Amino acid sequence: MSVGKDKPALFGGAPARTKPIPPMFPGGMEIGSEEKAAVMEVLDERTLFRYYGPTDFVSRVSRLEEEFAAHFRVRYALAVSSGTAALITALVALGIGPGDEVIVPAYTFIASVTAVLAARAIPVIVEVDESLTLDPSALEDKLTPYTKAIMPVHMRGAPCAMEQIMEIARRHDLKVIEDVAQATGGTYAGKRLGTIGHVGAFSLQLHKIITTGEGGMVVTDEQSFFYRARMYHDSAGFWRMEHPGELPIPGVNYRMSEIAGALGLVQLGRLEDLLARMRRLKARLKAGLEGLHFRRINDEAGDAAVCLVFYLPEADLAQQVAAALKAENVGASVLYDPDVPNWHVYINWKHILAQKTVTDEGCPYRCPLYQGEVKYAPDMCPQTLDLLSRAVHLDISPLLTDDDVDQIIEAINKVCRWYGLIP
Ligand SMILES: Cc1ncc(COP(=O)(O)O)c(C=O)c1O
Repeated sequence: MSVGKDKPALFGGAPARTKPIPPMFPGGMEIGSEEKAAVMEVLDERTLFRYYGPTDFVSRVSRLEEEFAAHFRVRYALAVSSGTAALITALVALGIGPGDEVIVPAYTFIASVTAVLAARAIPVIVEVDESLTLDPSALEDKLTPYTKAIMPVHMRGAPCAMEQIMEIARRHDLKVIEDVAQATGGTYAGKRLGTIGHVGAFSLQLHKIITTGEGGMVVTDEQSFFYRARMYHDSAGFWRMEHPGELPIPGVNYRMSEIAGALGLVQLGRLEDLLARMRRLKARLKAGLEGLHFRRINDEAGDAAVCLVFYLPEADLAQQVAAALKAENVGASVLYDPDVPNWHVYINWKHILAQKTVTDEGCPYRCPLYQGEVKYAPDMCPQTLDLLSRAVHLDISPLLTDDDVDQIIEAINKVCRWYGLIP
């Protein structure tokens, strides 16, 4: 260990920053007078429900769907009550169900996986690569005669390798459901994430880039998928006039409320500004850091830029560097810490690995329609665990100032120099 000229705060030096970085709720922290007015309008009109109310009104949820579809250049958008609801609806829209396997990454929020189980299909968990998204080279080995779909998840703002994934899907006649919960507005090869596969599923939960507190969106260019999604998300059948004489598929209630719709319209208007701010801050941050091994981004121009990730040679070192950065008031963390039961890492999905099911007969795993034999084990994705355990992660809040970024640069350079990671 070479002792740099500046001592990290962890070892008694002065911290590079005196206050913590701003909270990472990009759209959430922007909530202000426009959101308040939009919500108050709904309350004043008492038009809280999309399909009817005490007066004639134009549904905000319908307007949000139209504006979302136009913004994302996709034919259909369906607003739903959460990102999980969006994923389940997307799977049902594609006809995925009992007997089917769906490829999911080993690094994603657990909802991607439980959505597959809720659709009564089997999640097959696959390694991520240095981009921390689905590894196309590991994916093909996991295909079986039962594989019906691939669910690439654009984790922490960064696009999956969509060209390779779509090529594999085409070759094996598989459907692709993009989970865009963490990357709303990001792109790959100039196309919006969520509009490259057959169906895209977004989350508008508080932590996401834009938010309605709870909420989600399903998008597709394919009319038949949209119709199935719309039927499924609304068992009350308010869509019925569009399908006269046709027997619907039985559905649920994943409808979005008008309050969420009103919030969503304002937040959608904030999306490009939020993305531009995070991208500019990330570019400034990266420009001040030399000699670090950054996470690979499959399409730099399409990165939603919600975070910066860099790899260290060993997990222990990553833990020490993250702790030292925290002491500098730079909120860093390691993406896989064996002591933290974080539900973004497959090894912590203990109930999934145990194939626990909601009813005792064990469906969908022990469903007679399922002819495969998926197996899970804590050590089944060593590449993912290795990468995540060496990955130091920092949020890039759009509220950071240039001075904040310069202090973060100073903190990272000081700590990395102290540990002999950079000259
Ligand atoms: C990758 C990913 N998929 C799905 C979801 C589920 O979204 P929601 O919380 O809106 O149900 C989330 C977020 O929570 C997520 O991060």
